[in-house]
Amino acid sequence: MSARSRDLPRRSCLSTPGSNEKFLAKAPKVVADMTFLDLEDSVAPLEKEAARAKVVDAVKNLDWDDRVLCVRINAWDTEWTYGDVVEVVGRAGERLDEVMLPKVQRASDVVALDLLLTQVEKVHGLPTGHVGIEAQIETTRGLINVEEICAASPRLETIIFGPADFAASMEMPVLTGGVQIPEYPGDHFHYVFSKILMAGRANGLQVIDGPYLYVRNLDGLREFAQRSRVLGYDGKWALTPDQAGVLNEVYSPTQEQFDRAWDILDAYRQATEQERRGAVMFGDEMIDEASRKMAIKFVSRGERAGLRRSATPAGA
Ligand code: GLV
Ligand code: MG
Repeated sequence: MSARSRDLPRRSCLSTPGSNEKFLAKAPKVVADMTFLDLEDSVAPLEKEAARAKVVDAVKNLDWDDRVLCVRINAWDTEWTYGDVVEVVGRAGERLDEVMLPKVQRASDVVALDLLLTQVEKVHGLPTGHVGIEAQIETTRGLINVEEICAASPRLETIIFGPADFAASMEMPVLTGGVQIPEYPGDHFHYVFSKILMAGRANGLQVIDGPYLYVRNLDGLREFAQRSRVLGYDGKWALTPDQAGVLNEVYSPTQEQFDRAWDILDAYRQATEQERRGAVMFGDEMIDEASRKMAIKFVSRGERAGLRRSATPAGA
Protein backbone atom coordinates (compact mmCIF):
# COMPACT_ATOMS: atom_id res chain seq x y z
CA MET A 1 0.00 0.00 0.00
CA SER A 2 1.03 3.55 -0.52
CA ALA A 3 2.05 4.91 2.86
CA ARG A 4 1.18 8.40 1.62
CA SER A 5 -2.39 7.78 0.57
CA ARG A 6 -3.68 5.06 2.86
CA ASP A 7 -5.21 7.39 5.44
CA LEU A 8 -5.96 10.41 3.28
CA PRO A 9 -9.66 11.35 3.04
CA ARG A 10 -11.74 9.97 0.19
CA ARG A 11 -15.06 11.75 0.74
CA SER A 12 -15.32 12.53 -2.97
CA CYS A 13 -13.68 10.26 -5.56
CA LEU A 14 -13.78 11.93 -8.98
CA SER A 15 -14.05 9.71 -12.03
CA THR A 16 -12.28 11.09 -15.14
CA PRO A 17 -12.35 9.32 -18.53
CA GLY A 18 -8.75 8.58 -19.50
CA SER A 19 -9.35 9.02 -23.23
CA ASN A 20 -10.66 12.59 -22.95
CA GLU A 21 -7.86 15.17 -22.82
CA LYS A 22 -10.26 18.00 -22.01
CA PHE A 23 -11.61 16.23 -18.91
CA LEU A 24 -8.11 15.15 -17.89
CA ALA A 25 -6.88 18.76 -18.03
CA LYS A 26 -9.82 19.97 -15.90
CA ALA A 27 -9.67 17.22 -13.25
CA PRO A 28 -6.92 18.73 -11.04
CA LYS A 29 -9.03 21.88 -10.61
CA VAL A 30 -11.99 19.97 -9.21
CA VAL A 31 -12.03 20.01 -5.41
CA ALA A 32 -12.11 16.27 -4.77
CA ASP A 33 -10.23 14.21 -2.17
CA MET A 34 -9.35 11.52 -4.68
CA THR A 35 -9.25 11.40 -8.48
CA PHE A 36 -9.12 8.31 -10.63
CA LEU A 37 -8.22 8.37 -14.29
CA ASP A 38 -10.31 5.71 -15.95
CA LEU A 39 -9.18 3.17 -18.52
CA GLU A 40 -12.24 0.96 -17.98
CA ASP A 41 -15.93 1.53 -18.67
CA SER A 42 -15.86 5.25 -19.58
CA VAL A 43 -13.33 4.53 -22.35
CA ALA A 44 -14.48 3.01 -25.65
CA PRO A 45 -12.75 -0.28 -26.62
CA LEU A 46 -11.16 1.33 -29.68
CA GLU A 47 -9.61 4.05 -27.48
CA LYS A 48 -8.30 1.79 -24.70
CA GLU A 49 -4.70 1.60 -25.82
CA ALA A 50 -4.36 5.24 -26.85
CA ALA A 51 -5.80 6.30 -23.48
CA ARG A 52 -2.82 4.78 -21.63
CA ALA A 53 -0.37 7.40 -22.91
CA LYS A 54 -2.84 10.23 -22.16
CA VAL A 55 -3.21 9.00 -18.59
CA VAL A 56 0.56 8.71 -18.08
CA ASP A 57 1.00 12.23 -19.42
CA ALA A 58 -1.71 13.56 -17.07
CA VAL A 59 -0.24 11.85 -13.99
CA LYS A 60 3.25 13.15 -14.71
CA ASN A 61 2.57 16.65 -15.97
CA LEU A 62 -0.52 18.01 -14.19
CA ASP A 63 -0.50 19.41 -10.66
CA TRP A 64 -2.54 17.04 -8.50
CA ASP A 65 -1.80 18.81 -5.18
CA ASP A 66 -1.81 16.25 -2.36
CA ARG A 67 -4.99 14.38 -3.31
CA VAL A 68 -5.07 10.60 -3.73
CA LEU A 69 -4.30 9.82 -7.39
CA CYS A 70 -5.41 6.54 -8.91
CA VAL A 71 -5.80 4.86 -12.31
CA ARG A 72 -8.65 2.40 -12.94
CA ILE A 73 -7.35 -0.42 -15.11
CA ASN A 74 -9.46 -2.97 -16.99
CA ALA A 75 -10.68 -6.17 -15.33
CA TRP A 76 -8.85 -9.51 -15.59
CA ASP A 77 -11.48 -10.91 -17.98
CA THR A 78 -10.40 -8.47 -20.71
CA GLU A 79 -7.22 -8.43 -22.82
CA TRP A 80 -6.05 -5.07 -21.39
CA THR A 81 -5.21 -5.58 -17.70
CA TYR A 82 -1.57 -6.59 -18.09
CA GLY A 83 -0.84 -3.84 -20.63
CA ASP A 84 -2.57 -1.23 -18.46
CA VAL A 85 -0.31 -2.07 -15.52
CA VAL A 86 2.91 -2.39 -17.46
CA GLU A 87 2.42 0.68 -19.63
CA VAL A 88 0.71 2.99 -17.16
CA VAL A 89 2.09 2.12 -13.73
CA GLY A 90 5.50 1.46 -15.24
CA ARG A 91 5.70 4.90 -16.81
CA ALA A 92 3.66 7.11 -14.49
CA GLY A 93 6.27 7.35 -11.72
CA GLU A 94 5.92 7.85 -7.98
CA ARG A 95 3.03 10.34 -8.04
CA LEU A 96 0.60 7.53 -8.88
CA ASP A 97 -0.67 6.34 -5.50
CA GLU A 98 -2.94 3.49 -6.50
CA VAL A 99 -4.48 1.25 -9.11
CA MET A 100 -8.19 0.45 -9.05
CA LEU A 101 -9.18 -3.07 -10.10
CA PRO A 102 -12.80 -3.38 -11.28
CA LYS A 103 -15.06 -6.45 -11.16
CA VAL A 104 -12.98 -8.29 -8.56
CA GLN A 105 -14.43 -11.78 -8.28
CA ARG A 106 -12.06 -13.59 -5.93
CA ALA A 107 -9.01 -12.99 -3.72
CA SER A 108 -6.65 -14.37 -6.39
CA ASP A 109 -7.60 -11.46 -8.71
CA VAL A 110 -6.04 -9.11 -6.14
CA VAL A 111 -3.06 -11.39 -5.49
CA ALA A 112 -2.29 -11.53 -9.23
CA LEU A 113 -2.34 -7.73 -9.45
CA ASP A 114 -0.14 -7.46 -6.35
CA LEU A 115 2.48 -9.79 -7.90
CA LEU A 116 2.45 -7.93 -11.21
CA LEU A 117 2.82 -4.57 -9.43
CA THR A 118 5.80 -5.92 -7.48
CA GLN A 119 7.61 -6.75 -10.73
CA VAL A 120 6.73 -3.43 -12.34
CA GLU A 121 7.97 -1.57 -9.25
CA LYS A 122 11.29 -3.46 -9.41
CA VAL A 123 11.82 -2.79 -13.10
CA HIS A 124 11.03 0.92 -12.74
CA GLY A 125 12.87 1.56 -9.49
CA LEU A 126 9.74 2.36 -7.48
CA PRO A 127 9.75 1.56 -3.74
CA THR A 128 8.45 -1.98 -3.18
CA GLY A 129 4.78 -1.88 -2.21
CA HIS A 130 4.46 1.76 -3.27
CA VAL A 131 1.34 1.30 -5.41
CA GLY A 132 -1.86 0.68 -3.44
CA ILE A 133 -4.92 -1.21 -4.69
CA GLU A 134 -8.58 -0.18 -4.66
CA ALA A 135 -10.89 -3.14 -5.35
CA GLN A 136 -14.39 -2.81 -6.79
CA ILE A 137 -17.11 -5.21 -5.71
CA GLU A 138 -19.67 -5.18 -8.49
CA THR A 139 -20.55 -8.76 -9.29
CA THR A 140 -22.48 -11.37 -7.36
CA ARG A 141 -19.36 -13.59 -7.15
CA GLY A 142 -17.33 -10.65 -5.84
CA LEU A 143 -19.87 -9.98 -3.10
CA ILE A 144 -19.93 -13.63 -2.05
CA ASN A 145 -16.10 -13.55 -1.76
CA VAL A 146 -15.74 -10.04 -0.34
CA GLU A 147 -14.28 -11.16 2.99
CA GLU A 148 -11.38 -13.04 1.36
CA ILE A 149 -10.93 -10.24 -1.18
CA CYS A 150 -10.51 -7.61 1.54
CA ALA A 151 -7.79 -9.71 3.20
CA ALA A 152 -5.97 -10.60 -0.03
CA SER A 153 -3.08 -8.09 -0.05
CA PRO A 154 -1.38 -5.51 2.18
CA ARG A 155 -1.58 -3.17 -0.84
CA LEU A 156 -5.35 -2.86 -0.45
CA GLU A 157 -6.45 0.58 0.71
CA THR A 158 -10.15 0.65 -0.15
CA ILE A 159 -13.05 -1.55 -1.10
CA ILE A 160 -15.66 0.03 -3.36
CA PHE A 161 -19.26 -0.85 -4.19
CA GLY A 162 -20.09 -0.59 -7.92
CA PRO A 163 -23.90 -0.38 -8.06
CA ALA A 164 -24.35 -0.20 -11.83
CA ASP A 165 -22.44 -3.35 -12.71
CA PHE A 166 -23.80 -5.01 -9.58
CA ALA A 167 -27.41 -4.38 -10.66
CA ALA A 168 -26.55 -5.93 -14.04
CA SER A 169 -24.85 -8.92 -12.40
CA MET A 170 -27.91 -9.49 -10.19
CA GLU A 171 -30.20 -9.18 -13.24
CA MET A 172 -32.24 -6.58 -11.37
CA PRO A 173 -35.09 -5.19 -13.52
CA VAL A 174 -33.65 -1.64 -13.54
CA LEU A 175 -31.98 0.45 -16.22
CA THR A 176 -30.13 2.81 -13.81
CA GLY A 177 -27.95 1.36 -11.04
CA GLY A 178 -27.29 3.06 -7.71
CA VAL A 179 -30.47 5.15 -7.44
CA GLN A 180 -33.70 4.83 -5.50
CA ILE A 181 -36.21 2.19 -6.64
CA PRO A 182 -39.53 3.76 -5.55
CA GLU A 183 -41.43 0.47 -5.90
CA TYR A 184 -39.16 -1.28 -3.36
CA PRO A 185 -40.24 -0.83 0.26
CA GLY A 186 -36.83 -0.10 1.79
CA ASP A 187 -33.26 0.10 0.58
CA HIS A 188 -32.70 -2.65 -1.99
CA PHE A 189 -28.91 -2.46 -1.43
CA HIS A 190 -28.89 -2.40 2.38
CA TYR A 191 -27.49 -5.93 2.71
CA VAL A 192 -24.83 -5.22 0.08
CA PHE A 193 -23.74 -1.95 1.73
CA SER A 194 -23.48 -3.64 5.13
CA LYS A 195 -21.66 -6.74 3.92
CA ILE A 196 -19.00 -4.72 2.07
CA LEU A 197 -18.60 -2.33 5.00
CA MET A 198 -18.05 -5.13 7.50
CA ALA A 199 -15.51 -6.90 5.30
CA GLY A 200 -13.64 -3.67 4.65
CA ARG A 201 -13.54 -2.53 8.27
CA ALA A 202 -12.49 -5.96 9.52
CA ASN A 203 -9.38 -5.51 7.36
CA GLY A 204 -8.72 -1.85 8.13
CA LEU A 205 -9.80 -0.56 4.69
CA GLN A 206 -11.60 2.60 3.70
CA VAL A 207 -15.02 1.77 2.26
CA ILE A 208 -16.41 3.74 -0.67
CA ASP A 209 -19.82 3.94 -2.36
CA GLY A 210 -19.99 4.09 -6.18
CA PRO A 211 -21.61 6.50 -8.64
CA TYR A 212 -24.99 8.26 -8.57
CA LEU A 213 -25.97 8.49 -12.19
CA TYR A 214 -28.60 11.28 -12.16
CA VAL A 215 -25.82 13.84 -12.41
CA ARG A 216 -28.09 16.89 -12.59
CA ASN A 217 -30.05 15.97 -9.46
CA LEU A 218 -27.82 17.21 -6.61
CA ASP A 219 -30.61 17.02 -4.01
CA GLY A 220 -31.20 13.40 -5.02
CA LEU A 221 -27.47 12.72 -4.62
CA ARG A 222 -27.39 14.38 -1.19
CA GLU A 223 -30.32 12.29 -0.01
CA PHE A 224 -29.11 9.03 -1.53
CA ALA A 225 -25.54 9.45 -0.23
CA GLN A 226 -26.91 9.56 3.34
CA ARG A 227 -27.59 5.82 3.11
CA SER A 228 -23.95 4.84 2.94
CA ARG A 229 -22.79 7.84 5.02
CA VAL A 230 -25.00 6.91 7.95
CA LEU A 231 -23.78 3.31 7.84
CA GLY A 232 -20.18 4.56 8.07
CA TYR A 233 -18.82 4.71 4.51
CA ASP A 234 -15.87 7.06 3.98
CA GLY A 235 -16.98 8.56 0.67
CA LYS A 236 -18.60 8.15 -2.71
CA TRP A 237 -17.75 8.57 -6.36
CA ALA A 238 -18.32 11.91 -8.06
CA LEU A 239 -19.01 12.13 -11.78
CA THR A 240 -19.03 15.95 -11.93
CA PRO A 241 -17.43 18.84 -9.97
CA ASP A 242 -20.86 19.68 -8.49
CA GLN A 243 -21.30 16.14 -7.22
CA ALA A 244 -17.85 16.35 -5.58
CA GLY A 245 -18.89 19.52 -3.72
CA VAL A 246 -22.00 17.84 -2.30
CA LEU A 247 -20.06 14.73 -1.24
CA ASN A 248 -17.33 16.69 0.54
CA GLU A 249 -20.09 18.00 2.80
CA VAL A 250 -22.10 14.81 3.21
CA TYR A 251 -19.13 12.67 4.27
CA SER A 252 -17.64 15.18 6.74
CA PRO A 253 -18.77 15.27 10.37
CA THR A 254 -20.49 18.53 11.28
CA GLN A 255 -18.61 20.96 13.54
CA GLU A 256 -21.15 20.14 16.26
CA GLN A 257 -20.51 16.39 16.02
CA PHE A 258 -16.76 16.98 15.97
CA ASP A 259 -16.85 19.20 19.07
CA ARG A 260 -19.13 16.79 20.92
CA ALA A 261 -16.78 13.91 20.13
CA TRP A 262 -13.89 15.88 21.66
CA ASP A 263 -16.00 16.70 24.72
CA ILE A 264 -16.79 13.00 25.19
CA LEU A 265 -13.10 12.13 24.98
CA ASP A 266 -12.25 14.77 27.58
CA ALA A 267 -15.04 13.71 29.94
CA TYR A 268 -14.13 10.04 29.62
CA ARG A 269 -10.42 10.66 30.20
CA GLN A 270 -11.26 12.66 33.31
CA ALA A 271 -13.54 9.87 34.55
CA THR A 272 -11.12 7.00 33.96
CA GLU A 273 -7.85 8.70 34.90
CA GLN A 274 -8.85 11.05 37.74
CA GLU A 275 -11.93 9.36 39.19
CA ARG A 276 -11.04 5.76 38.21
CA ARG A 277 -14.57 5.17 36.89
CA GLY A 278 -15.33 3.29 33.66
CA ALA A 279 -18.86 4.63 33.14
CA VAL A 280 -20.00 8.19 33.84
CA MET A 281 -22.79 10.59 32.96
CA PHE A 282 -22.16 12.99 30.08
CA GLY A 283 -25.14 15.33 30.06
CA ASP A 284 -28.15 13.00 29.83
CA GLU A 285 -26.16 10.09 28.54
CA MET A 286 -24.13 7.33 30.14
CA ILE A 287 -20.74 7.00 28.45
CA ASP A 288 -18.13 4.25 28.68
CA GLU A 289 -15.28 2.73 26.68
CA ALA A 290 -17.51 2.10 23.64
CA SER A 291 -18.41 5.81 23.59
CA ARG A 292 -14.70 6.63 23.49
CA LYS A 293 -14.23 4.36 20.49
CA MET A 294 -17.10 6.02 18.61
CA ALA A 295 -15.80 9.49 19.48
CA ILE A 296 -12.29 8.65 18.27
CA LYS A 297 -13.72 7.80 14.84
CA PHE A 298 -15.48 11.17 14.59
CA VAL A 299 -12.34 13.00 15.62
CA SER A 300 -10.08 11.25 13.13
CA ARG A 301 -12.62 11.63 10.31
CA GLY A 302 -13.12 15.31 11.16
CA GLU A 303 -9.38 15.94 11.30
CA ARG A 304 -8.99 14.25 7.93
CA ALA A 305 -11.65 16.64 6.63
CA GLY A 306 -9.73 19.64 8.02
CA LEU A 307 -11.99 20.42 11.04
CA ARG A 308 -10.50 22.03 14.17
CA ARG A 309 -12.09 21.99 17.60
CA SER A 310 -14.07 25.16 18.40
CA ALA A 311 -12.64 27.23 21.22
CA THR A 312 -14.18 26.19 24.56
CA PRO A 313 -15.77 29.19 26.28
CA ALA A 314 -13.60 30.52 29.16
CA GLY A 315 -14.52 28.88 32.44
CA ALA A 316 -16.50 26.08 30.71
C1 GLV B 1 -19.11 1.36 -11.11
O1 GLV B 1 -18.14 0.97 -11.68
C2 GLV B 1 -20.39 0.72 -11.21
O2 GLV B 1 -20.46 -0.26 -11.96
O3 GLV B 1 -21.33 1.17 -10.53
MG1 MG C 1 -18.53 -0.79 -12.83
